[in-house]
Amino acid sequence: MSKNDLIRAAQDAQKQAYAVYSNFCVGAAVRAANGKIYQGCNVENASFGLTVCAERTALFTAIAAGEREFSELAVVSAPGVSPCGACRQVIWELCGDIPITLVDADGNTRETSSARLLPDAFGKEGLSHET
Ligand code: THU
Repeated sequence: MSKNDLIRAAQDAQKQAYAVYSNFCVGAAVRAANGKIYQGCNVENASFGLTVCAERTALFTAIAAGEREFSELAVVSAPGVSPCGACRQVIWELCGDIPITLVDADGNTRETSSARLLPDAFGKEGLSHET
């Protein structure tokens, strides 16, 4: 249940990346509230816009397994990048404010959170405005 387990899971997932166009391999791992870890990698497509990031692959896999609550996320890439805008919105929707660890190729880590990555986010509450 340590942070290192989550990071290792993301590093393993990075090895599965289908990044035949960019060669930019990304791995992600999300921990569900029950402690289970779900992994994801980026999956690219010749129709470039159809590419799915590692973060969304991990989260959608967890959702498909029935998970609805998450406690932390780790993302691994060579430079240790932070999630793209689309993934930030999806992370906010499914996880709310959770800690996120960004990891580079040397294993250096940077800590952030979904709220820091997407301030003033649009979310479910925004839909319930009475007219
Ligand atoms: N990518 C991710 O999987 N996650 C990120 O946080 C950034 C970008 C992927 C999408 C694409 O396959 C490749 O990295 C280059 O953008």
